[in-house]
Amino acid sequence: MKISVGVLFGGNSVEHEVSVISASQAMHALNKEKYDLVPIYITKDSRFYTGEALLDIKKYKDIPALLNECEEVILKKGASCAELVKAKGGLFGSKTVAKCDIFVPVVHGTNVEDGTLQGYLEMFGVPYAGCDVTASALGMDKYAMKCVLRDAGVNVLDAVCFYSREYFKQSEAVVESIESKLAYPVIVKPVNLGSSVGIKVARDRDGLIEAIDEAATFSHKVLVERAIEKLREVNCSVLGDYEEAMASVLEEPVSSGGDILDFVDKYQGGRKGEGSTKGMSGSSRKVPAEVTEDQEKAIKEMCITTFKALNCNGVARIDVMIDEASGEIFVNEINTIPGSLSFYLWEAAGVKFDELMDKIIYFAQKRHREREKLSFSYDTNLLSEFGARSLKNGAKGAKN
Ligand SMILES: Nc1ncnc2c1ncn2[C@@H]1O[C@H](COP(=O)(O)OP(=O)(O)O)[C@@H](O)[C@H]1O
Ligand SMILES: [Mg+2]
Repeated sequence: MKISVGVLFGGNSVEHEVSVISASQAMHALNKEKYDLVPIYITKDSRFYTGEALLDIKKYKDIPALLNECEEVILKKGASCAELVKAKGGLFGSKTVAKCDIFVPVVHGTNVEDGTLQGYLEMFGVPYAGCDVTASALGMDKYAMKCVLRDAGVNVLDAVCFYSREYFKQSEAVVESIESKLAYPVIVKPVNLGSSVGIKVARDRDGLIEAIDEAATFSHKVLVERAIEKLREVNCSVLGDYEEAMASVLEEPVSSGGDILDFVDKYQGGRKGEGSTKGMSGSSRKVPAEVTEDQEKAIKEMCITTFKALNCNGVARIDVMIDEASGEIFVNEINTIPGSLSFYLWEAAGVKFDELMDKIIYFAQKRHREREKLSFSYDTNLLSEFGARSLKNGAKGAKN
């Protein structure tokens, strides 16, 4: 029997449309001789739909019309699978529309890629591809990620991180604390966004205040770090899990001339109409990146260590910064579900897109088997001992 694969995409995220493109590519690449494909589109208000029409990318121009051709569903735990049942139950109760033996989330951004969707899927007891809840959440929090990576011996830039509300209450103290730790120019980032939203370089105090004001409107936490002036960016995809992982060919994204790679560079192919290599984001890039053999080796090793330290699974992309002035290399961030699942970096490494999907599914199943061996219950007779007297005292003594 074929494995039924539910591919989830969309969701309440600013990268909703990017996810539709990534998922569309992934669904077409999935080997239909091995798998039954169940497309599951999550609308911007977090409703789930399924149907063949979701496979036609052209139909996303008119979402209401597309959804008319689809069935709204809710997920339900089955015996050894997850069931998609009609959201609107008929006369004889809800009806199962499809079953999934495994889920493959192809979502990007907050509210979906950050552990939210992963936590939801965790409850159905079937394997799901990609990072688990903790790894996904770490990948979305630029500061938490740095802390874990530094602990694992990975080179990351020092940063100052503070709550937006703390800044609004005591702006001067926060600015002074930043200036005491970092020299200008610095770069200010919302801690948990993507696509360069809310990110700005500051060259003096006025610029810093302006940049924090902006970043703080996007996130409850803000991060400031040294801005690398002679920067080269190199990305590397890693495929595997905490035990076995391999690195792809390296790519070098090309900016259209601003301080940082912004949304236009990443998703709209740059401003100057440079030719772009294929891949979801349509941004201009060099594949492979023109780095020395030593740099390539160091970057690949660093990215594999990063992937394992964060307990990633499936395919991720790690973005690295080279400080051309000093030659130092830093991990900047991880994308736990990279655009286009980084298929173009794997094709360049000799792994076809359908094989990449096979491997993602393999690592999800491997993790699931390992988790099934763990114990999630602990037999006690706590409840039978928990009499009326304890109710008065509260449960505190029972929970250490
Ligand atoms: N420390 C830095 N120094 C110089 N430029 C940086 C630095 N950090 C990020 N950038 C630039 O800003 C862009 C976006 O930052 P990044 O941390 O990757 O955020 P996002 O999650 O939005 O992609 C990077 O691609 C790079 O061009
Ligand atoms: Mg980035």
